[in-house]
Amino acid sequence: MIENKTVAIVGLGYVGLPLACLCSRKGWQVEGIDINKETIASINKGVAPIAIEPGHLGEEIKKKKIKAAEDFKNIADAQVIIICVPTPVSDSYLPNLGPVKSASQSVAKYLKKGQLVVLESTVNPGVSIEVVKPILEESGLKAGKDFHLAHCPERIDPGNEKWTVINIPRVVGGINKTSAKVAKDFYEEILEGKVMMMKSLKEAEAVKIVENSFRDINIAFVNELAQSFNKMDIDIVDVINGASTKPFSFLAHYPSCGVGGHCIPVDPYYLIERAKASGFTHEFLRLAREINNYMPTFTVDLITQALNDHQKSIKGTNIGILGLAYKKNISDTRESPAYEIIDLLKKVGAELHIYDPYVKDESNASSLADVLKKSDCLVIATDHDEFKGLSVADLEKNNILAVVDGKNCLDKDSFAKSKVDYQGIGR
Ligand SMILES: NC(=O)c1ccc[n+]([C@@H]2O[C@H](COP(=O)([O-])OP(=O)(O)OC[C@H]3O[C@@H](n4cnc5c(N)ncnc54)[C@H](O)[C@@H]3O)[C@@H](O)[C@H]2O)c1
Repeated sequence: MIENKTVAIVGLGYVGLPLACLCSRKGWQVEGIDINKETIASINKGVAPIAIEPGHLGEEIKKKKIKAAEDFKNIADAQVIIICVPTPVSDSYLPNLGPVKSASQSVAKYLKKGQLVVLESTVNPGVSIEVVKPILEESGLKAGKDFHLAHCPERIDPGNEKWTVINIPRVVGGINKTSAKVAKDFYEEILEGKVMMMKSLKEAEAVKIVENSFRDINIAFVNELAQSFNKMDIDIVDVINGASTKPFSFLAHYPSCGVGGHCIPVDPYYLIERAKASGFTHEFLRLAREINNYMPTFTVDLITQALNDHQKSIKGTNIGILGLAYKKNISDTRESPAYEIIDLLKKVGAELHIYDPYVKDESNASSLADVLKKSDCLVIATDHDEFKGLSVADLEKNNILAVVDGKNCLDKDSFAKSKVDYQGIGR
């Protein structure tokens, strides 16, 4: 084992960058590598290219403790190499392992005996052995003999102040026990959270996909209930809150206008496709994806109905879209359902006024007040704190006819005596 407390982090995004900062804080020299020139330039200038608030880890970037480069040669002398590149899906929902393959190829060029290579990207069971290992072994070195190979899926939840990269418990799997143990020791040194050793790489890979599929399925269940209860005039949120009084065997999930982010709407496809290649069809996962993918259309249907009630059609109507980020109080817009809602509304000729305080460069309205002034109808696509503060009086003052609350974040009861129609998702 090389021992020099240098870690190379490949991919400096939402996963790699906080990790790089944490390693630096724990006394490791960090060699950051990315293919994005702007990301590299920004980090080397001491400016975080993305928001890294929890634990004030961004301080390590300000202090220029993280070195970033495009060239992989800097990994040659690192004790540990961690790959944190994206694992997206194509437009037809097929896994794209291109970034994992290309990062592994670049690592292979400089791989040395005694190094630990960890894949942190979310992948389906089998990728470390079937895809990463053969590429790394093109170096002439053998995994588990000449270098250690492990998988430690990241569980970071951007914007979550309580659970951060520092304290979230982790699992690791290795190509053999030694690799798993070396990886466990490394993570135990940098993290405050517990690290559990899985019996294999495949098990560690499966843990992450199962976690995110579990969430996707539970969200799909309440999204389906929202559509059913909408027809039966039952408030799904009240029902979930009622069911939550059961102190065991119920876990509250809430419906919304769609599922976004780089993980939940993406990861299940990795399992679906890998299982298909092994001759198994995941009906349950596929259905959950279909239900959740349908929610932006359901939301637009609610807008159509709300406007119909006012003898208006979507065509030519001024509709305010509040929020582009996929979740509250952050700027990450990846896979955000807001975009599909916008596309669907544009197709039928709506005049859109879009505002997200965290994504100003994609907003065409200058402020929340600007949207209120220009719109006849509102859609809340993200439950940013700024939008949650909207009152019935704010809407009445601006002659808003209807609000479709895609995140069920406004006080529905406060609309009872108002002329403004309130329509939530399943309430
Ligand atoms: N974002 C999350 O909340 C989150 C949480 C847990 C797990 N994950 C998983 O972690 C992985 C990374 O996600 P992310 O959100 O950090 O992605 P990201 O897009 O924010 O960052 C990835 C970085 O990798 C760089 N990159 C792409 N290809 C590269 C290559 N060949 N060599 C070097 N750098 C390369 C990109 O330029 C980018 O800066 C994904 O598998 C994702 O599913 C993400």
